[in-house]
Amino acid sequence: MSKLSSPPPLHSRKNPFPAKILVSQKLNLEGSEKETWHYEFSLVGSGLQYEVGDSMGIFPQNNPHLVQELLEALHFSGNEQVKNKEGETFSMREGLMKHFHITQPSKQFLEAIVEKSPGATKLRELLHPDRKNELDRFLWGLEVIDFLLQQPPIRFTPDEFVSKLRKLQPRLYSVASSLKAYPEQVHHIAAIVRYESHGRKREGVATTYLADRVGKNTPIPMFVHVAKGFRLPEDPATPIIMVGPGTGVAPFRAYLQERKAIGAPGKNWLIFGEQRARCDFFYRDEFAAMQNEGVLTRFDTAFSRDQAYKIYVQHRLLENSKEVYAWLQEGAHFFVCGDEARMAKDVDLALHQIVEKEGAMSSEAAAEYVETLRKQKRYKRDVY
Ligand SMILES: Cc1cc2nc3c(=O)[nH]c(=O)nc-3n(C[C@H](O)[C@H](O)[C@H](O)COP(=O)(O)OP(=O)(O)OC[C@H]3O[C@@H](n4cnc5c(N)ncnc54)[C@H](O)[C@@H]3O)c2cc1C
Ligand SMILES: NC(=O)c1ccc[n+]([C@@H]2O[C@H](COP(=O)([O-])OP(=O)(O)OC[C@H]3O[C@@H](n4cnc5c(N)ncnc54)[C@H](OP(=O)(O)O)[C@@H]3O)[C@@H](O)[C@H]2O)c1
Repeated sequence: MSKLSSPPPLHSRKNPFPAKILVSQKLNLEGSEKETWHYEFSLVGSGLQYEVGDSMGIFPQNNPHLVQELLEALHFSGNEQVKNKEGETFSMREGLMKHFHITQPSKQFLEAIVEKSPGATKLRELLHPDRKNELDRFLWGLEVIDFLLQQPPIRFTPDEFVSKLRKLQPRLYSVASSLKAYPEQVHHIAAIVRYESHGRKREGVATTYLADRVGKNTPIPMFVHVAKGFRLPEDPATPIIMVGPGTGVAPFRAYLQERKAIGAPGKNWLIFGEQRARCDFFYRDEFAAMQNEGVLTRFDTAFSRDQAYKIYVQHRLLENSKEVYAWLQEGAHFFVCGDEARMAKDVDLALHQIVEKEGAMSSEAAAEYVETLRKQKRYKRDVY
């Protein structure tokens, strides 16, 4: 077939589709320490086609209160005309709202601070290439605004200031729905980022944009971010094990919808984890219905704060090590999604321990077994 027969998609990262929110719903109940939201977006008229396992890129906007605070600290009106690196021009206010990353400082911004502020000796020392880890520790929780509120005030010209800022990047969110179950829609689950540091309330740009600042008619620019390495097995009869604590459950909700829609005969095992069963058990009814229908063959949960000690997804895997190994021996694909820094590492360790124990192998042989799973594209991770 000629390549010309399939036209390129109308919408892409360069030309994102302005999607509207159909549903936004907080998933946690009273008493939770988490803030996780479920979103449904309309893709009607977009022609966007995603596969389960993909993510969507969403272009957020910054918080207008933070923009105003920056303008005041810099003594700008907001009407100054500025340019980005691509040569597009807009007002300073629009630039700070939509085009520039105004929270975590860039290296160029920090270098400008050091240049303009002779008293910033600590920062000057930490900017030495050998001290990257110390610099990261120093910067944790500090934002551009903190440097601008220091006394004596630091002055920038409008062009100079924006030249020190990075471009505001889209954020990725795992697809949590199947087009076969929800045609022309995409669902997402987002953990809202809010924290306090150096005496100020801070927030993640995209998660609070979605949770606090968009209405039903706000067009939210989005595009498909293809994840070929995180697809369901080609053979619908292949069993799958899905490890998805927190927002990591998103792609697995989509997998289950997809496998149900196509009548896939393969077994499906989901291991979900959150803090408390009473208030953080997302999609409880949906998963119960999937179990009743026989789509969800096995469902285990790990609620970390329902007892005095932590129970995490990897503990459920270890408790069920015989079955996990038996499923792997039957050809199961092993999927992990969610927190990269802690969870994914611990689950990886548990997988190695399971193979070592149940396969009666040395640790080296178990590592080789897991490596083979990876090479055969049967051990797949989407972690962040
Ligand atoms: C492939 C992929 C799929 C993803 N899927 C999902 C998903 O389905 N659901 C989901 O919720 N997320 C998902 N993410 C993460 C998502 O893309 C965003 O990174 C996340 O939502 C935060 O975005 P934000 O703009 O709200 O925060 P940002 O504005 O990017 O802020 C985050 C930054 O804030 C700072 N920070 C955060 N907490 C603290 C703290 N306590 N103290 C000091 N500083 C702190 C850190 O510098 C951190 O990098 C995914 C990421 C990838 C790469
Ligand atoms: N890279 C980024 O830009 C970015 C942005 C936002 C979020 N994130 C990461 O993504 C995660 C998303 O949060 P989330 O709300 O989806 O879920 P989460 O914070 O990962 O929490 C889900 C469950 O996992 C548990 N958990 C904590 N440590 C664990 C470990 N080592 N092994 C297994 N389970 C563990 C939690 O228990 P406890 O809470 O009781 O310990 C909770 O029960 C955040 O933790 C963050 O690290 C990354």
